[in-house]
Amino acid sequence: MGEGEVVVELSPEVVAKVAVEAAKYPERRAAVKSALRYAQAEHGWVSGGVVQAVAQLLELEPIEVYEVATFYDMFYTEPVGRHQLRVCTNVSCMLRGAGSIVELLEHKLGVKVGGTSEDGRVTLLAAECLGACGGAPMLVCGDRYFEDLTEEKLDHLLAELD
Ligand code: FES
Repeated sequence: MGEGEVVVELSPEVVAKVAVEAAKYPERRAAVKSALRYAQAEHGWVSGGVVQAVAQLLELEPIEVYEVATFYDMFYTEPVGRHQLRVCTNVSCMLRGAGSIVELLEHKLGVKVGGTSEDGRVTLLAAECLGACGGAPMLVCGDRYFEDLTEEKLDHLLAELD
């Protein structure tokens, strides 16, 4: 979060949704996570400007918002591709081949974990347990879970992403 970052403008829809969230809690800070979720959905990632905008909206210090943004791995504090593939690399998935799933994706996308494909389409990320160990190895793309991954399933998924 840089000093003097330009505050981005949040749409009236996001502002309204944040107001609904904020009204649910006695402490405005409790609404930061939801506010960041809405703002990220609109802006693609949580830039310094988004942090400032959310802070202004909730009348908090930017650092209070920034701390939440950096605590949860669902918030992206760097630009990401249009789609994010979050491959679980925790124990159950690792034991069932998450390592080769990551390697296959790195190869197919031409990036290392943390990188974004040249066309800006996909960011490849590693994640901690995503609560679907029974379907290991697995990944999450947006709010969709892809389980029991094979190379064929990866190809299918990559083909359907715009
Ligand atoms: S270890 Fe991968 S979903 Fe739990």
